[in-house]
Amino acid sequence: MAIALVILAAGKGTRMNSDLPKVLHRLGAAPLIAHAMSSGQGLEPEEVIIVAGHGADQVRAAVGKINPDARVVLQEEQLGTAHAVLQALPELEGFEGRVIVLYGDTPFIRTETLENMIDSPADVVVLGFEAADPGRYGRLVAHGTALEKIVEFKDATDEEAEITLCNSGVICAEAATLRELLPVIDNDNAAEEFYLTDLVEIARANGMAAEVVTCHESETLGINSRKELAQAEAAFQARMRAEAIENGVTLTAPETVFFALDTYLGADCVVGPNVVFGPAVTVETGAEIMAFCHLEGCHISRGATVGPFARLRPGAELAEDVHVGNFVEIKNAILDEGVKVGHLTYIGDADIGEHTNIGAGTITCNYDGVMKHRTTIGKRAFIGSDTMLVAPVSVGNDAMTGSGSVITQDVPDEALALGRAKQVVKQGLATKLFEMLRAQKARKANS
Ligand code: UD1
Ligand code: CA
Repeated sequence: MAIALVILAAGKGTRMNSDLPKVLHRLGAAPLIAHAMSSGQGLEPEEVIIVAGHGADQVRAAVGKINPDARVVLQEEQLGTAHAVLQALPELEGFEGRVIVLYGDTPFIRTETLENMIDSPADVVVLGFEAADPGRYGRLVAHGTALEKIVEFKDATDEEAEITLCNSGVICAEAATLRELLPVIDNDNAAEEFYLTDLVEIARANGMAAEVVTCHESETLGINSRKELAQAEAAFQARMRAEAIENGVTLTAPETVFFALDTYLGADCVVGPNVVFGPAVTVETGAEIMAFCHLEGCHISRGATVGPFARLRPGAELAEDVHVGNFVEIKNAILDEGVKVGHLTYIGDADIGEHTNIGAGTITCNYDGVMKHRTTIGKRAFIGSDTMLVAPVSVGNDAMTGSGSVITQDVPDEALALGRAKQVVKQGLATKLFEMLRAQKARKANS
């Protein structure tokens, strides 16, 4: 069955106290809206429509990076959830299938839960949950799974307010049903808003069936404040840690490891304490990330070891059995199989051939103040400690550079390059210098 996702994200999020649109605040190193998009993506939707309002340009830019096929429509005034979905309908012209409405600020709905909704034969399916504290949620008036209506808290009678089965906001209906019934919804209610929740009663009045599918309350957590964002981050991290462990990853100190929405760790990876995964990190089976590493936008192959205290930045690509040691930073660089970069080194904009050894304190001088340049190093080369590789520059296969060299010219295969001052040795001069300096110090102390 064809699926379209409509994600509502026009609200201001006043309680965030922020200039940033609410759905762009980060959870698991990804904008909030990426989480809703990701739960929906599991259904392989044909269409993804985001309804934006406050900060629509910023939302459009962020959405484009998450899924270039998603389309953003503008809801100029936030007149209610039904009005918001109505804005998406022109984009769904000719679409025949089910539409799932999600909220951009509700990150934890599982794909399996959405699948349960799609499996329901009812014309309108609403996702409900038993609320520990029903507060201001819409109440579901239901008889078993048959849904009679949804009553917003503001409009509820005392008796209806007692109901603990609440509306998560997620709704599923045929596109044709929405086209027919959404325009009928009015704003004759306490909030003077066009309520999407009215769809249930109107559908039933038209002889259609409505049903409630339930999920655990934790899935329906919506974010309205920084406090809730922090709580959601904690919940997200707890879930990611548990999933990693479940999938066969060893976390030595799970509560100190931080994941991003798209972190991938293969089975038998070992992750030490205090490791932070930023966006877009993939670590293959059996690799080890030691304590205090910060990784983003990188790929680590089988058998590689990283850290402790290493920083891998976007475009760092480590082949099998690469070793990156302490206080090493790598950016936009490909390290082929078996490369070793053990200590205190910056490798940026570089290609390094297999089994090359990079000595301590090596720096690729990739930036001339205006442009970035590449360094290419061949296979089995040996870069002496404290080599400055002034890019653009290349070092050949089986070549060497002497420690302390500043390499500004290409080094051919099998050559040794020395780019440093020649050493001179003056016999006995150290003793004379010490005497002179001590005498100076004594004169100063007496004056
Ligand atoms: C809504 C539901 C309520 C449910 C609750 C769950 C309605 C009428 N009420 O109430 O039954 O229990 O969610 O959290 O649907 N939005 C727009 N445009 C608008 C209005 C809202 O895009 O014009 C977006 C908001 O950005 C938000 C979502 O829709 O992401 C929900 O809106 P909100 O105002 O928070 O609805 P609630 O009052 O919480
Ligand atoms: Ca809300």
